[in-house]
Parts: sequence; C-alpha cells; structure tokens
Amino acid sequence: MARSFCQITDLTAAEVHEVFDLCAAMKKKKIAPKPFEGKSVACIFTKESLRTRISFEVGINDLGGNPIYVTGPEIKLGQRESVADAARVLSRYVATIMIRTFDHADVEELAKYASVPIVNGLTDLVHPCQIMGDYFTMLEHLPGKDRYKVAYVGDGNNITNSWLNLASIIPLDFRIGTAEDCQPDQALLAKAKANPQSNILVTDDPKEAVADADAVYTDVWASMGQKHQADDKAKKLQKYQLNSALMEGASPHAIVLHCLPAERGREITDEVMDGPQSVVFDQAENRLHIQKAIMTFLMK
Ligand code: CP
Ligand code: NVA
Repeated sequence: MARSFCQITDLTAAEVHEVFDLCAAMKKKKIAPKPFEGKSVACIFTKESLRTRISFEVGINDLGGNPIYVTGPEIKLGQRESVADAARVLSRYVATIMIRTFDHADVEELAKYASVPIVNGLTDLVHPCQIMGDYFTMLEHLPGKDRYKVAYVGDGNNITNSWLNLASIIPLDFRIGTAEDCQPDQALLAKAKANPQSNILVTDDPKEAVADADAVYTDVWASMGQKHQADDKAKKLQKYQLNSALMEGASPHAIVLHCLPAERGREITDEVMDGPQSVVFDQAENRLHIQKAIMTFLMK
C-alpha cells in the first residue's frame, strides 16, 4: 500500500514539518522535483471547485505530470463499480489519485485498495491540504512561534476538523467559537484534546474564542452539500461573523484567514477580508505550493 494523505493525521509531526520545509524550498524555487515526469494523475471531483482544481492541475504540471480531470457523474464512484475496484483500475493508469468528494469513507476506501497515493482534496469530514497550506501561511507571516493561538469562528465543519487534526499532532492553542448545534466532529475533538501539547477550547462566546489570537479564521456557514441549510445556519451563526468589532479582541499582530470561497457580508465582512490583517489570497496561493510538497513527499 502506498502512503496516502486522507487526513493530516496520516503524517507524523516530523513529517508535517518535512512537508513545510519542502514547501518553503519549492516555493523559493530552490528545488524543482519532477516526481510525475512521464506520468499522469487522476483528479476526481464530485463537488465544485476553483482553487483545488486549478492549483492541483498547475501543480501536477509543475511536477512534470499530466492531470486528468474526472467528474462525479462520469466516474459514479461506488455506483458503477465498487470504490475498491475503481482504486485497483486507476492504480494501473496513474501515479497518484487526488479526490474531492462527500463521504470521507470513500477516500479511505480508495487508499485501502489503491497501490498509488491518494490525496484528499476535501470531504465532508476534512480538508487537509487546505489546513496544511494555512499553517504554512502562518509560518510565513508570523515566524518563530512555538505554539500559535488560532481562533476559528463559525460553523464546525471540515475546516474546523482539519485544524483539530493538526492540533492532535503538533502543539496548537486552538479555540472554536460556534453555536451549540454547529459543533465539529466529536471524535476528532477528543483526539485533539488528548494531545498534551495542545490547548483546545470550544465556546459559544466568539469574543472568548478570538481573545489575544495570532490568527482568526472563518469559513462559510453552509458548506457544499449543505447549502439548503444556509438560512438556518445564518440565524444560528450570526454572532460569529468575523467583523472589525470581533477582530478588536485578537492580538494586534493577528492575521485573518479564510479558505475561500467567501460569502462576503455573511461569515466575514468586506472590511475584514480586504483589511490590512487579511492574508486570504496568500493562503489561496499557498494551496499550490503545499500540494506540490505533499505529492512530492508521497511519491518518495
Ligand atoms: N478552498 C478551496 O478548497 O476552494 P475551492 O472549493 O474553490 O477548491
Ligand atoms: N467548508 C467548505 C470549504 C470549502 C473550501 C465546504 O466544504 O464547502
């Protein structure tokens, strides 16, 4: 079985730092590996995307490979044939399989039966490439800290869950401000709390969450596949909007993070998203660099 990246916890703490170091070197173009020279990579999308699709396709080209974009209706994963058989077949053609889909179990199933690396480009449970890129963005903007205070305000979703995954393997002071029925995955929360090096707080008070934070993060209130719940979530999460008043409680050097796409005026105001503390477009750029580093690491 090849090494896969279904969740951040598929890597050790040392490997996470190895990927950050590789990312930094590749971003500065000190090294330009070509692990996919003469090879193809399948990019399966059963949900929409801008950043993930384009950054993976550009990244695979940079690594010498040929990306093959496949959509859900074509592949009908788990319907036309079993996920296991699709994994076995794809492994005969491509060097890596990147997938964005709904059910996280499908990604784990692909990883179990594929003989090539699987890279998770977002599931309902987690978005590991995103949070690896986001932490790398923090390292660039706030270098030299042993443990960052990261506040996440809004819906307890795949982004929140991936921060919890990161907190379960590296030291992190991670605070979640969210409503009672918008909580993150409870198993991943327990796992993060079990890391003695991390501090995890879940509160319904957004001000408590952002107090003295180095980075304040938010994401859409209704994720892909949940857009029908948008109005309901908006009612529950209104007080967690990332606006200037809330930012006043964060550290003066705090950066603002959002994985994008943003629903401006809902979970984040224009003033904050376009303000001097916002690094959201650096985050978007870093998706490209971190994914190249992750794929290169897995192809070792
Ligand atoms: N952040 C992110 O994954 O964006 P896309 O949904 O556009 O890929
Ligand atoms: N939580 C969002 C992230 C999008 C990148 C979603 O799953 O739609």
